[in-house]
Amino acid sequence: MDWGMKNRLARIIKPDGRTVMLAADHGYFLGPTSRLENPRKTLEPLIPYADAIMVTRGVVRTSIDPISNVPIVLRVSGGNSIIGEDLSNETITTSVKDAFRINASAVALSIYVGAKHEHQTLANLAKLVDEGEEYGMPVLAVTAVGKELGNQDARYLALACRIAAELGAKFVKTYYCDDFQKVADSCPVPLVVAGGKKLETERDVLQLVYDSVTNGAIGVDMGRNIWQNDHPVAMIKAVRAIVHDGARVDEALAIVEEAKVKEEV
Ligand code: R5P
Repeated sequence: MDWGMKNRLARIIKPDGRTVMLAADHGYFLGPTSRLENPRKTLEPLIPYADAIMVTRGVVRTSIDPISNVPIVLRVSGGNSIIGEDLSNETITTSVKDAFRINASAVALSIYVGAKHEHQTLANLAKLVDEGEEYGMPVLAVTAVGKELGNQDARYLALACRIAAELGAKFVKTYYCDDFQKVADSCPVPLVVAGGKKLETERDVLQLVYDSVTNGAIGVDMGRNIWQNDHPVAMIKAVRAIVHDGARVDEALAIVEEAKVKEEV
């Protein structure tokens, strides 16, 4: 890897080999997602605790202070919507040149393995990797969700993650599942785990984080389970405690319980 590529990745993945990425790119196909209606208001208090933030260029330019030093993982695929015909019908929506203008530390796009537009999304990834390699921009591949996709199934996720790595993604975002270690063991690049829809309890969220990092993930790229919580700052601090400080679930949960008692966010 060239210096620039290494340096960008090192901004996201900390010296302990771990990362807590804050995902807030949902609007690119979900529109004004609950509690992310005003991205600046939601994200500002969380940014100091995020190792990187995953957003679109629209949110970067309107809602993140340019003097903020948070590394940007720029969502560069889209062209679909939750009410459209097929979520897998994605294209590259932002050039690598614009990613450099934004000073992104990585670019991210979704791949839809097993879906109608599988080929198109894998070709998007290959093209983005080619450009990324030319200029030193790491690519994060997101193994996307879809009605027909097995996003809880280790065999399916291992397939999607491995294909992403083979096509040159520098790291991959995927879902946690039973036998996750098998997914991690068969993927030669680092994995970060998505949170998914808001879980019932904070314990469930923190257990997911704990299970992810103890079964081969280098961290999380989590959104709704942080900013849809009534105590988002406490939640991201609790996630950090597990990912970076080796806290157990009960220890991390105490951070959230304490915030509830003090009525902090
Ligand atoms: C989905 O395609 C987006 O990339 C989200 O960033 C992703 O789902 C992670 O966010 P959450 O933790 O809310 O699932």
